[in-house]
Amino acid sequence: MGRKKLERYQQVKTLPNYYDLLTAPKKNWNEWAFKKEQPIVLELGCGYGEYVVNLAKLYPQKNFLGVDVKAERMFIGLKDVNENELGNAAFFRAPIQFLPDFFNQAEVDELWITFPDPFLKEKKHRRRLTSAYFLGVYRKFLKPGGIINFKTDCDPLFEYTEEVFAEEGDAIEILFKSYDLYNDAQAKPEWLIPTRYEKMYQERGVPIKYVQFRLK
Ligand SMILES: C[S@@+](CC[C@H](N)C(=O)[O-])C[C@H]1O[C@@H](n2cnc3c(N)ncnc32)[C@H](O)[C@@H]1O
Repeated sequence: MGRKKLERYQQVKTLPNYYDLLTAPKKNWNEWAFKKEQPIVLELGCGYGEYVVNLAKLYPQKNFLGVDVKAERMFIGLKDVNENELGNAAFFRAPIQFLPDFFNQAEVDELWITFPDPFLKEKKHRRRLTSAYFLGVYRKFLKPGGIINFKTDCDPLFEYTEEVFAEEGDAIEILFKSYDLYNDAQAKPEWLIPTRYEKMYQERGVPIKYVQFRLK
């Protein structure tokens, strides 16, 4: 790890609104972390946490938690959260597959999956955040009918996700889909919050794919 990353990694642990596997509440985040009973929204693989920060500013009546294994990235979002005194936003350093141990069943209302690693090699399918395996993980803490938002630049990952949906059949309900979100007249402003990775791909002219769906 480079010096700057190491410094951020050390510092992030001392900041308010940061949790790791040792310090995170064992479930009931509204009571123990946010101190306010409000719908909980997670950004999975949040990186620098653009969705957490911007949605928390837009929706003070909801609580937002960014989850990633890379603490030094979350440092950026966390600084913003603390400087702006956003009481409804926090970050949790954890592998996403561990989340069922940290939430009650149906504790979470909504998920954002923003530009996840595509893991295109055949044997890494299970690690994709839209795999049937991960949908099963989300079912353990997402409310029945809870919404999942998924954004990607990656055509093979989007096609793979559509195949997973086809296999899931009636267990999935697609609410909205776009193969070119930024040229879609129906796009809502909150779907267009650009993340670090998103900006990179937009600059290269890659259309952004988006799907909003429900797990039944
Ligand atoms: C390509 S980056 C995208 C970051 C950010 N969402 C964005 O759009 O700029 C993917 C992020 O997902 C995180 N990640 C991938 N698999 C994960 C897992 N199983 N648990 C936690 N974080 C994961 C990586 O650490 C990385 O920060």
